[in-house]
Amino acid sequence: MKSLMMQGVQILATGSAVPDSSLSNEEISQIVETSNNWIITRTGIEERRVLTGANKSIIDLAVLASLKALDKISMNASEIDLIILATSSPNDLFGSASQIQAQIKAYNAVAFDLTAACSGFVLAMITASQFLQTGTYKKVLVVGADVLSKWVDWSDRSTCILFGDGAGAMILQACVKLDNQILGFQLNTNGNYCNHLSLSYKEDSYSHSILNIYQGSFKYISMNGKDVYKFAVSQVPLSILKCLNSVNIAIDDIDWLLLHQANHRILKAVADKLSIDNKKIIMNVNKYGNTSAASIPLAFDEALKEGKILQNDLIVISGFGAGLTWGTILVHWKS
Ligand code: UT7
Repeated sequence: MKSLMMQGVQILATGSAVPDSSLSNEEISQIVETSNNWIITRTGIEERRVLTGANKSIIDLAVLASLKALDKISMNASEIDLIILATSSPNDLFGSASQIQAQIKAYNAVAFDLTAACSGFVLAMITASQFLQTGTYKKVLVVGADVLSKWVDWSDRSTCILFGDGAGAMILQACVKLDNQILGFQLNTNGNYCNHLSLSYKEDSYSHSILNIYQGSFKYISMNGKDVYKFAVSQVPLSILKCLNSVNIAIDDIDWLLLHQANHRILKAVADKLSIDNKKIIMNVNKYGNTSAASIPLAFDEALKEGKILQNDLIVISGFGAGLTWGTILVHWKS
């Protein structure tokens, strides 16, 4: 996919936030029939963070992650032109991004939500980069935040062990083409398999007596784990190859593989299929589980903090999940 690139895109800063409260596999095994051993062997997850307490939402985590990113570069929030919030667990179905705008005092920013589950951050980053490359906006805050602990069925052992809560933020800026850091991308959707992973609206069986209007509510994540697993392992490597081919970069040139943190087996299988050394995999699924739209910016921020990602490194980022949606971004790191 070719984009109309008049300007480049720089990554100025990242930030992340997770709730204080952790939930171990042992604790989950007191709620559903499972074991620490099963969860670690099948997923690599040792613990996850969950947002506890009343009246807490993605906004608490998203605001914290955003402020950390702004603080890193001493940027005043009034400089931000656009905020894109990738989330599937908003606290307001009409949109939650405006609450971030208000709380961080980014009063000059347009703000909107983008829903694409675990691919949300990849799609939001590319949406942001389109606004920057065309010169429409100069500075964009992209946030990935999810609190799926509020949406899992805590009696379903096949899903409740997987997810955790978190938020990650990234500030992008338009720059001269020479300094561009987003070298390429490749995005996909296949709605035929939307039922493999969904958080669907469920209609009540009765309607309003006069209007014949049925109402309902959203209820619980449902997932066909095996099929999602097969989809990820077969399609993500193809997306990565297409993305790299489009910019004439070889697999061997890649320094880091940063995949959506769904399951350590998926991360390793994708790396193996592409003959990427496992040492190049950025992985923190053990600590946070699958944090959906937050997982990529959270892992990116941690890898930077740990000093893993170095000047001139090439990082392949891939998201995949409900929709089904999946896609890849190639980043050239320049600090
Ligand atoms: O973020 C979006 C992307 N989502 C994903 O990437 C998820 C992709 N899928 C997966 O990661 C894996 O499919 C799971 C981790 C969800 C499941 O692993 P699996 O190796 O595919 O297990 P399975 O579903 O085939 O289940 C194997 C067995 C079953 O028992 P039987 O039928 O063999 O007797 C399950 O009932 O394990 C059982 N099982 C469990 N046992 C203990 C399922 N969940 C659990 C559990 N604890 N939590």
